[in-house]
Amino acid sequence: EATVAPHIVWHPTTVTKKDRQDKSGHKSCVLWFTGLSGAGKSTLANAVESLLHERGFRTYVLDGDNIRHGLNRGLGFGPEDRRENIRRIAEVAKLFVDAGVITLTAFISPYREDRALARGLLDQGEFIEIYVKCPLELCEKRDPKGLYQKARNGEIADFTGISAPYEEPLSPELVIDSGELSVRESAERIVQYLHEQGIVQ
Ligand code: PPS
Repeated sequence: EATVAPHIVWHPTTVTKKDRQDKSGHKSCVLWFTGLSGAGKSTLANAVESLLHERGFRTYVLDGDNIRHGLNRGLGFGPEDRRENIRRIAEVAKLFVDAGVITLTAFISPYREDRALARGLLDQGEFIEIYVKCPLELCEKRDPKGLYQKARNGEIADFTGISAPYEEPLSPELVIDSGELSVRESAERIVQYLHEQGIVQ
């Protein structure tokens, strides 16, 4: 991995993360949604954002497909590109957390090592890993974008769950069984967790 040139020095800001959080009226963190394509990461992240936004909290969603159109355009789905995808997103999420925003990320992020790297960039308690759990069969049945079908036909290589791995989280902060719970119930459970953790009041 690239190292930082010796003449580049970190410059502390006058206004700190704590100052910005105080102004926001809540703490900031990353809600890191991980799970198979079609498990419901984006839907859930959006539902949680709506609930938080309604209550006046500062939020932002970073979403897989959208980020791959801009910041991470050109990255593919091999292990190296996925790692770079996740590394950049984690760095961006860290900036948002520094800005005092509750940041929600919705990426498959299939590799444990990559998620661990993302966690390692944030302070203790700021990285909340949410496993959106859904059986592959159900994701494939839903197939909202028709991608599983294409992967089965060999039209998409390295497709998570079909021809590329998904490594389940071993100790996520939350597991949401998206095949069992409604979106509303799941979103409320996550907001409840933020209350319990003292991130929002
Ligand atoms: S990753 O693994 O975290 O880097 O992936 P992510 O940035 O979340 O992008 C996943 C979305 O890209 C579409 N797509 C694929 N997914 C998995 N494997 C392959 N090969 C692939 N090719 C395209 C797919 O629509 C994913 O969206 P979601 O929202 O997860 O369904």
